[in-house]
Amino acid sequence: MADERAATPDAADKQPRPRKKKEPVIEVRRIHRRDLNRVWEFLKLSFRDVNRATVEYQRPRTKSRFLETYEEEGVEQLLFYVGKEIVAYAEVTYEVGGDTWLNPRYFEARDMRPLFVDELAVHPDWSGRGIGGFVLEQLQHIARVRGLTHLVLEVAENNENALGWYRKRGFRKLDAAIFMAQTIQVEPELLPPRPLPPAKEPPPVEELTPPPKPRPAKKRART
Ligand SMILES: CC(C)(COP(=O)(O)OP(=O)(O)OC[C@H]1O[C@@H](n2cnc3c(N)ncnc32)[C@H](O)[C@@H]1OP(=O)(O)O)[C@@H](O)C(=O)NCCC(=O)NCCS
Repeated sequence: MADERAATPDAADKQPRPRKKKEPVIEVRRIHRRDLNRVWEFLKLSFRDVNRATVEYQRPRTKSRFLETYEEEGVEQLLFYVGKEIVAYAEVTYEVGGDTWLNPRYFEARDMRPLFVDELAVHPDWSGRGIGGFVLEQLQHIARVRGLTHLVLEVAENNENALGWYRKRGFRKLDAAIFMAQTIQVEPELLPPRPLPPAKEPPPVEELTPPPKPRPAKKRART
């Protein structure tokens, strides 16, 4: 019987062995021109929710800006992938970029030699699996081998997920601008609609005939 046969050692050997599941492996390489379109799609997806909730665009703002970045000198664009899938992207620069408001003197005065992290994004389907941690490790490694003393980045205060994530990893707030807003009691420039008084009734017809002229008073004879 089939059950008995399976119980014998010979038959058990012939049973297909459960395959050992291959653990995914994350790899990193520099971006190539042919990756640009795929990475742009990846970035749109990764920052979709964040960009909906923040007053300032979490970069990149436009595809053309992103494509220009590839041509710029001094920008390091790293791609993290598992198999053929892009799971994370990071972009760093060694100097304050032309399109930021950062003041390089702030860092010079404090003996800081920062590595500026312009982007750090993990694919939403891969979050919570240690990929962000691996990306961060890679950036710390670049900083260390280049003798740089800090990772500096900008994160929206209401991007609570990322903010908490950075704080937990020792990032601290620098003296930096925050967006403030004061509510103004709004007054519309144009006046509101106003009901008009009812139109005046035309006077009754009799009133239209002029009243008789008063007769001149008779002169009284002098006494
Ligand atoms: C913020 C962000 C980079 C985090 O990336 P992530 O890959 O989810 O991060 P990790 O997986 O390394 O860490 C997330 C949590 O998963 C946990 N985790 C789960 N499995 C893990 C594993 N196998 N190894 C390590 N950590 C693991 C970590 O402990 C961590 O929890 P903690 O923060 O409480 O310590 C990612 O959410 C993101 O890209 N967000 C959108 C873009 C964005 O906001 N970027 C930053 C703006 S500048």
